[in-house]
Amino acid sequence: MSNPAGRAQWHSGIGFILAAAGSAVGLGNIWKFPGRAYEGGGAAFLIIYILIVAVIGSTVMLAEFTLGRHTKKNVIGAYAQIGSKWKPFGILGITTGFIINCYYIQVGGWVMYYVFSYLFNAAAVYADPQGYFLNFLGAGSFPVLGAIVCPMIFAALAAFVITRGVSKGIERFNKVGMPILFILLIALAIRSVTLPGAAEGVRYMLTPNFAMVTFDTWLAALGQAFFSLSLGMAIMVTYGSYVKKEENLAKNTALICVVDTTVAFLAGMIIVPAVFAAGLTPGKGGSFAFISLAAVFENIPGGAFFGVLFYLLLFFAAITSCISIMEGTVAAVTEQKNISRNKATIGIVTTSFLIGILYTVSQASMNIKGIWWDFTNGLTFPVFGDFMEYLTDRLLIPINALIGCILVAWVWGTKKAIEEVRQGGNFPFKLAGLWSFSAKFIAIIAIATILVMGLFMGRALS
Ligand code: PHE
Repeated sequence: MSNPAGRAQWHSGIGFILAAAGSAVGLGNIWKFPGRAYEGGGAAFLIIYILIVAVIGSTVMLAEFTLGRHTKKNVIGAYAQIGSKWKPFGILGITTGFIINCYYIQVGGWVMYYVFSYLFNAAAVYADPQGYFLNFLGAGSFPVLGAIVCPMIFAALAAFVITRGVSKGIERFNKVGMPILFILLIALAIRSVTLPGAAEGVRYMLTPNFAMVTFDTWLAALGQAFFSLSLGMAIMVTYGSYVKKEENLAKNTALICVVDTTVAFLAGMIIVPAVFAAGLTPGKGGSFAFISLAAVFENIPGGAFFGVLFYLLLFFAAITSCISIMEGTVAAVTEQKNISRNKATIGIVTTSFLIGILYTVSQASMNIKGIWWDFTNGLTFPVFGDFMEYLTDRLLIPINALIGCILVAWVWGTKKAIEEVRQGGNFPFKLAGLWSFSAKFIAIIAIATILVMGLFMGRALS
């Protein structure tokens, strides 16, 4: 099928790879992966993670790409084309993306603030890292900077790129942003591994300590792989729908997985050695990145400079992911409701920004017993912040990935999906048999396991 008249396309193969890699490389790679690798026995975790990405993650990613390119539609349209009763699940996918977008915008704003904090005021961060962060989140007052000003600038930047269009906006931005991200990553890794006392951290990351591997390690690696590869968020179906038929989807999927995993590994080589050198223990998540790391930068010669580079790295990782998740929703609203791209973008960005304010307020009121705490009786908002992440990470992402996989493997059929990759013999796709088996059985069982364990066994996967 040719491209529907006027529908956007990636200009080049490399543009598509960089955009999809930009989506995959996000905060998850930089502030979650290193901590998980540390807990999972260094290289032992890495080996397990690579295995999971190779067998399961890449399978689901290719499924999402083929569905997108075959239908040339946003996720709602794509699901509906395969079978009209699947449409509600497309809507669920978009809803998931929208919820994640709400809090990602907020965290993106915090990251930006920290670039400037290290640039102009590193001494204040060092003096009281926790106090500095909590103050930013509005100690005792409404967090104007943390919930409004910074997230608004971040959201406006992402929205601007999206309104420029798929090729002229998203593709161009990633073509510049991703190389910058790689340079920052390598510069920081070199700084980290050459610090006095870093050798032990490097050794830790390169030595497989299988004694630390438990069932939970496998679950954590699975959850990490899905989040990190941006699966089950309506992103890769949308990005796949802009790919030309002359592109080798199987090869590109492999490349994107390799880039994402390499970035995660390099982030591990930044965090773990530097944290070891400072005599601390690697952690993960926002409080680790915004609070604990201050002690590391404080002890490095020229630490404020490397702090700026580190938060810039987080900024590029976050904004390229944010753009991708916004685009999933924008494409759906634009095509399903026949609304212009600009109007759809402005509407979606504004609503997700407004809802997202509650996320920051919630995080703030969980930590600071100020007027918001009193106002909400210490209850309403705190529940909100955790609830958003719980809902998406534990429930919606695995459900979407599962439905997507069932839809492609069993309803549409792996034969047709393989033909979509092969394009009448233009591309060999030697691993088609393996992919088909993985999509039909292994991936589905693995995702169902994450879902059940996360929901009923209360295991933390995110
Ligand atoms: N892959 C992203 C990450 O690792 C996940 C994500 C994508 C989150 C898009 C938000 C938006 O952080």
